[in-house]
Amino acid sequence: MHNVVTGATKRRRTWQHVDGAIPIQEEVPGSGADQIPVALACDLVLNYTAPGHHILDPFCGFGTVLKIAHDLGRPGCGIELDSDRCQFAQQHLPNQIDIINADSRDVVLRERAYDCMITSPPFGRVSEGVRIVDDSSYELVEHVVGHCRTFIKQHGLIVVETANPRIDGFLSTYTHEVAVRLARIVPLVDEIIYCVDTGVDVVEGVQHSNILVFQNTNECP
Ligand SMILES: C[S@@+](CC[C@H](N)C(=O)[O-])C[C@H]1O[C@@H](n2cnc3c(N)ncnc32)[C@H](O)[C@@H]1O
Repeated sequence: MHNVVTGATKRRRTWQHVDGAIPIQEEVPGSGADQIPVALACDLVLNYTAPGHHILDPFCGFGTVLKIAHDLGRPGCGIELDSDRCQFAQQHLPNQIDIINADSRDVVLRERAYDCMITSPPFGRVSEGVRIVDDSSYELVEHVVGHCRTFIKQHGLIVVETANPRIDGFLSTYTHEVAVRLARIVPLVDEIIYCVDTGVDVVEGVQHSNILVFQNTNECP
């Protein structure tokens, strides 16, 4: 079901609804809230890439985006810091998908080999069961996207899934901060809110994702 918000002069899609979809790694304990819903990953791949495009996911987690992309005819490469998640992705995804166990801030890939980046950074970090969103959260995204965009073709799209975790009952401004920081490096060209009806929160207390789309040029406003 697609909901379209109409403007005075032109129709413009600003939010969408994706229905419940089973995560591919549902058998992994605790993975649920950290995984992008399949329906959302599918929509992003179809909306922002074409068959044959090569996709890079520098926060690939369990490899959900790359699995969907592969099934839709888009080869890809993922980078994941956590060795357990990396191993899971390597074991469960087709061999043609490269999964690298590394810190995306340091990794070296073939220059401009990828058409598009689609990725979900960590929405802050969890320490002793408490989520923390602070400058280091935004700096990580800025650093990874700033570095990994050198492997994305000129004018290729950089699609970043974010959310605003609820901290002590109040919404954080994670999405806004990420948008501000990344827009200093690459211009922001689109934003969409996806209402996710999986029954699993995108992040604690939040049932929608914010999709920020940047273009890999140096022409920032
Ligand atoms: C929100 S999860 C991504 C989930 C993924 N989209 C999925 O559906 O499986 C973010 C991932 O980024 C990884 N990560 C955090 N810092 C990283 C870094 N510096 N380099 C590479 N991966 C990193 C985390 O280990 C985590 O698995």
